[in-house]
Amino acid sequence: MIGVFDSGSGGLTILKTLTERLPDQDFLYLGDHGNAPYGHRSNEQIVELTKAGVTRLMDAGCRLVILACNTAAAIALRSLQETWLPEQFPDNRILGVLVPMVEVITGVPWSQQNQSPARDAEKILLLATHKTVASGAYEEEINKRAPQVDLVQKACPGLVDAIEGGAGAMPLRGMIEGFIKETDTYGISTAVLGCTHFPLVEGYFQAVLPKNISILSQPDIVAGALVDYLERHTQYQVSGTGHVILLTTGDPVTVNIVSRRFADSTLTFTHV
Ligand code: DGL
Repeated sequence: MIGVFDSGSGGLTILKTLTERLPDQDFLYLGDHGNAPYGHRSNEQIVELTKAGVTRLMDAGCRLVILACNTAAAIALRSLQETWLPEQFPDNRILGVLVPMVEVITGVPWSQQNQSPARDAEKILLLATHKTVASGAYEEEINKRAPQVDLVQKACPGLVDAIEGGAGAMPLRGMIEGFIKETDTYGISTAVLGCTHFPLVEGYFQAVLPKNISILSQPDIVAGALVDYLERHTQYQVSGTGHVILLTTGDPVTVNIVSRRFADSTLTFTHV
């Protein structure tokens, strides 16, 4: 099984594309709805909650876990990969969602930190949680590789809460409209929904963003990166049957209602 972890239902956007691109793999998804949203938590709490989630997935047999949460990836992934994982689960791996996005935005593979003269100067809008924006992780990694890319960051506080809280179409669209109105979109060619919850309401982003701005799909990019990774690291492939299990630390009744509304009407979470 491949583990997929998010603070809540946002990672379902990644899981959906992973299951489409890798139909023979089995997936175990854990949404930490009981502790969501992570966007309001301290860095220490995010690190501890992420460790707890990854531990559950690895204890259940996942040798590879995808952190399908930009906030957890931006705040916790590096320390988990560098110190915690080698001690706790030395044969296992954790991959995030930020690395494949930075590779696509900059045109430079992660392992090569040299700058890319081939990349055109471009203005890109990152829409993410307050924590992801404040971490500066996207900015730092993009600057290292493609300083000619001008990254405009816009935090969208409260949007994850509204989605997880089951807010209706009008308030959600209104919030997104407000965030875009507050952003100087002049010259921007591409927007990145740098929170895995945001593709659940991508239609509202599309409706309010200026028409010349295209959205870079994080689910597609992350799934493509995992396909490549599994081709290069066959030891993490499992010959499965496309079986998917969804677990939540929250109340499964509420989680099922909300996630079915945004994602897939057949989803069924059980409490872990
Ligand atoms: N889906 C998470 C992300 O990508 C949401 C974080 C949160 O719970 O605030 O950032």
